[in-house]
Amino acid sequence: MLNLDWSHLPFGYVKTDYNVRCYYRDGKWGELEISSSEFINLHMAASSLHYGQEAFEGMKAFMGKDGKIRVFRWEENARRMESSANGVMMAVVPNELFKKAILTAIKMNERFVPPYGTGASLYLRPLLIGSGARVGVKPADEYLFMVFVTPVGPYFKEGFKPVSMMIARDHDRAAPKGTGRYKVGGNYAASLSAGEEAHHDGFAAAIFLDAREKKYIDEAGPANFFGIKGNTYITPKSDSILPSITNKSLMDLARDMGMEVEVRPVPVEELKEFDEVGACGTAAVISPICRIVDHVTGEEYKYCSNGEAGPVSTKLYKRLQAIQYGDEPDVFNWNTIVE
Ligand code: PLP
Ligand code: COI
Repeated sequence: MLNLDWSHLPFGYVKTDYNVRCYYRDGKWGELEISSSEFINLHMAASSLHYGQEAFEGMKAFMGKDGKIRVFRWEENARRMESSANGVMMAVVPNELFKKAILTAIKMNERFVPPYGTGASLYLRPLLIGSGARVGVKPADEYLFMVFVTPVGPYFKEGFKPVSMMIARDHDRAAPKGTGRYKVGGNYAASLSAGEEAHHDGFAAAIFLDAREKKYIDEAGPANFFGIKGNTYITPKSDSILPSITNKSLMDLARDMGMEVEVRPVPVEELKEFDEVGACGTAAVISPICRIVDHVTGEEYKYCSNGEAGPVSTKLYKRLQAIQYGDEPDVFNWNTIVE
């Protein structure tokens, strides 16, 4: 048995036993290789290094009480990686290769899947990069697809405790018709300065507004934003945010709980009207938000006066996790059991 402090794992990198890799060369994908090295041998002119031809995914596998490992909605991540690959002109990873790669990576590292009841999970990081040499700005002719795994705890150290966030009015993460809807590294590079400013000022993350008008909420750091108003779940519609699989799942759960769901532009002033707000994503699951500060306008919005998450966010969080860990029937058919 591994000697890891499973219940107190941060969201960080832990070396595991194996990762998997596959090259796209001469117009076709090769064989999936299993490696025990944490390093890759990369040409110094690789298009990923110079021109950002890179996309990644984030997904999780959970150990159930029944000893079975469940992967959450991998088909959605495969589809999103296809969209990201097309978005920055990379070779598309076929579904079957994606599936084989993630299942192999999990099985080869089974001892790193956190035990049931610890609140931790195995984070999977599929990564697709342009590995072919390019000096002129154009797509590479060679690509490398990899998957590594790492056991993780909550993304925000507070876990399911409410956090404060800052509106990053003087930063943009993505342009309206740009790459914001793809999971490409450049978006994260563009978000770093806002994130660091937020952390420096004691906030868990920066909330980005729409870059064109600065009127509407886009995203909450590495997660989508949602608000609860009465019996309605409201989440931003925007071309420059990542279509979150967690958000999509929460919308299904909200409808299943008899709530209305609205996907539409969310004006900043509407923050006054929400009963609860939160950030959602694979890493964050749901991170309830207790306070949002807009330094430029001086506005401050407060939620959860008792310091705890609101009742609707709590219910959504519990149902999502119960399905992910296999405590509740998988009525939406979201899980794949690793066999
Ligand atoms: N938005 C951004 C910018 C993200 O990095 C993520 C994380 O993947 C999300 C939203 C949430 O997406 P998902 O729920 O698919 O993990
Ligand atoms: C995820 O939630 O999977 C993410 O990718 C967020 C972040 C760690 C980049």
